This record gives sequence, C-alpha cells and structure tokens, in this order.
Amino acid sequence: MVVVEHVARSFPNGSERLELLQDVTFAVSPGERLAVTGASGSGKSTLLSLIAGLDAPDSGSIVVADRTITGMDTETVTRFRARHIGLVFQFHYLLRDFTAEENVMLPAYIAGLSRRDALERARGLMEELGIIDRRERLPAHLSGGERQRLACARALMNDPDVVLADEPTGNLDEENSALLTELLFDLVARREKSLILVTHDTGLAGQCERVLRLEGGELRAVA
Ligand SMILES: Nc1ncnc2c1ncn2[C@@H]1O[C@H](COP(=O)(O)OP(=O)(O)OP(=O)(O)O)[C@@H](O)[C@H]1O
Ligand SMILES: [Mg+2]
Repeated sequence: MVVVEHVARSFPNGSERLELLQDVTFAVSPGERLAVTGASGSGKSTLLSLIAGLDAPDSGSIVVADRTITGMDTETVTRFRARHIGLVFQFHYLLRDFTAEENVMLPAYIAGLSRRDALERARGLMEELGIIDRRERLPAHLSGGERQRLACARALMNDPDVVLADEPTGNLDEENSALLTELLFDLVARREKSLILVTHDTGLAGQCERVLRLEGGELRAVA
C-alpha cells in the first residue's frame, strides 16, 4: 500500500546541506500499522510530507495505493491525495471561516459527494470522536484537543487508503487520546487501510505491528 525506496531529502543549511533523510526504504501493507519514532528534528514530519506528496524527495521513489507519486505534477498529486490519503498533522490547517462541521465535510463535498451525504458522514465521524456538540463552532473557538479530533474526522472523510498521522494524540487528554487511537486503529483493521503513525508515545507505538526509528537519516527497526 505504501512503498518507499531509497528516498533521500536534504535541505540547504547555511553553506552546507542538511542531509536529513539519506536512504530510507520500507513498505507498509494493507491493514498494517507502522509507528515511526525518533528525536525531534530527525525528519519524521518531513518523511510524512514526502509520502503525502506535499514535498518531493531528491532521489528515490514513493508508491502509494499502487501509484508512483514521485514525479507526479502538482495538480495530479493534489487530486490523488484528496482521494487516497488522510492526513492528521501537527498543524491542522483548518479553515478558520468555516464551522467545525463544514471543515469536516468539505473534502467529501469537493470530491463530489452530495451536500446531504457529506453532512451525514461528517456528523457520524464527529459523533464517534465526541465533538458533535461543537459542530457549529469556528475552529478558533475550539480547544486544541477538539481541533485535533476535528482534523482527524476531516482526514477520514474520504475513506482514504492510507492514513498519515503526525503526533495525532499530542494535545489530547488520556480519554480522548484513547478514543482517537481506537478510531484510527479500528479503521485500519476493519477496512484494510495502512496507517503510518509518528509518535513519541512508546505505549502507543507498542500497539502497532511494527516500530521503526529515524536516526542519522535512516529508518531502523526497534528491537
Ligand atoms: N523546508 C525546509 N527547509 C530547511 N530545513 C527544513 C525544512 N523542512 C524541515 N527542515 C529541517 O529538517 C529537520 C527535521 O524536521 P522535521 O520537521 O522533519 O523533524 P521531526 O522529526 O518531525 O521533529 P519533531 O519531533 O520536533 O516534530 C529540522 O531541523 C528542520 O529545521
Ligand atoms: Mg514533526
């Protein structure tokens, strides 16, 4: 479902280059949950951006849901992302002039679902995540944890093949963290999706089939 081969990514860093990812190779199959850990600044978010097609590697190839996304033009990759990839990132990019509910339903509405069906699906997900009573609010009037759950509901709207989650439980209390984890894990298991989860939480990582650690530009298995 996700195949990353020999991916490298560097950034300019003064007069030198920061060789962030050097030779990253791994695959995630349908129904599999992969946790990625690593120190702050090791390149975890950068790796997810590459898999989402938000950034392009210097070399190597990335295949998501049987399509090679490396080399796709921006418009094609944007359309592909909307259909196949669900993103739950550290910064949520919620639309501030739209209500919670509108933020959640928008991806499906844009993808061509009727307003009524999009709304019904959005409400179902918001119900599951315990934010249904916040549906009329603007993102600015929600707590950090509520915004996080909103972003998660939005990511799941189009029933993506691959979910990329960057510290999805970072702002959440224990109860909501468990709720969100259960929803993500359940989705993966029930519908044979792939989940790549960046987390510092060893308990959470331990619930995944596989844990890899990003260190020195390489991804290694954690014993
Ligand atoms: N576009 C860019 N230009 C220059 N440097 C960048 C760029 N994107 C990321 N970096 C650098 O790459 C390094 C890794 O960033 P990244 O966000 O991937 O780390 P991370 O592992 O997700 O860290 P954290 O756990 O703190 O979220 C950082 O030092 C960052 O400054
Ligand atoms: Mg990060």
